[in-house]
Amino acid sequence: SPEELSGRIRAARETLGDRVVILGHFYQRDEVLRHADFVGDSFQLAQATKSRPDAEAIVFCGVHFMAETADLLSTPAQAVILPNLAAGCSMADMADIDSVTDCWEELEELYGTAPDADGRVPLIPVTYMNSSAALKAFCGAHGGIVCTSSNAETVLEWAFERGQRVLFFPDQHLGRNTAKAMGVPLDRMPMWNPRKPLGGSTASELHAAQVVLWHGFCSVHKRFTVDQIDTARREHPGARVIVHPECPMAVVDAADEYGSTDYIKKAIEAAPAGSTFAIGTEINLVQRLAAQHPEHTIFCLDPVICPCSTMYRIHAGYLAWVLEGLVGTVDRPPVVLNRIVVADDVAAPARTALERMLAARP
Ligand code: 13P
Ligand code: SF4
Repeated sequence: SPEELSGRIRAARETLGDRVVILGHFYQRDEVLRHADFVGDSFQLAQATKSRPDAEAIVFCGVHFMAETADLLSTPAQAVILPNLAAGCSMADMADIDSVTDCWEELEELYGTAPDADGRVPLIPVTYMNSSAALKAFCGAHGGIVCTSSNAETVLEWAFERGQRVLFFPDQHLGRNTAKAMGVPLDRMPMWNPRKPLGGSTASELHAAQVVLWHGFCSVHKRFTVDQIDTARREHPGARVIVHPECPMAVVDAADEYGSTDYIKKAIEAAPAGSTFAIGTEINLVQRLAAQHPEHTIFCLDPVICPCSTMYRIHAGYLAWVLEGLVGTVDRPPVVLNRIVVADDVAAPARTALERMLAARP
């Protein structure tokens, strides 16, 4: 039962004390998040990883790329544990190292390798945090950087200072929404689809590009539509519509504001009592914010419940299992279950790209 699992998690935590730290993303279920020491968006969780170098184990209640990032940013002695190894991210899976390398080589052939008069190289790779460690390593090794939804603009500024163009992967929407807000015209953002010759664009479109977008997307956020926003405004006049930047451009344009999961949380916390919010992001976060803020009216734009199915794969049973593994029993010594380890050759350049991001934040 949920109570029994909660009791087992608390008992294991008590035995382990400061030896373990539990991190949880905003999209996790309540029965998991109530046991987390830090709850946050993906940028905050990356920072939180570094804040407890004393803990022997970091239990990451999130998805695989987040646990990989925690392994990259933690100390070598720390073990990062993902309670359910099946918790991936369909968007992260839409860009793999072979297709990105092929794309890079084709673009290099087109753009050459010579810097311009200001010393800017022809192309800088920028990967969204929602990507494998191999892609972060690719960025680290090619003068590039990582971004999250909370610092994408800062990171793109960093990249434009150093490069004439950016190759942005895997999320086309975060790339397009951010570049558009920075004044990049849409006709200077061709999309690269690895299944098509030249990514499905012409050489002249690619030459004119300021940002080459990868074709990835989030299956949760692509569900949000302008029709839903119109309905919300009709049914709740005066509602503030806030969406995540992984939503399609038309949805972001029709919303009042957009921002990361933490942005959405803080906007709600700062609003005067009696405000109404129509939110375009994952349902666990929206429902939790609605429960925590009875002084407001908060609802999800999508009337069909839309959890992130992979975030949802972490449940309290897995959390109890990995924590009890660390405790051990009289018959069985302690064991680190579901450890996430990034191979050394990938870890070094991936860390470089992550550290550039952490340093680029204003
Ligand atoms: P945040 O960086 O806003 O937490 O988003 C992570 C994510 O996966 C959203 O789908
Ligand atoms: Fe990936 Fe979308 Fe889930 Fe975020 S909400 S973890 S981008 S599938």
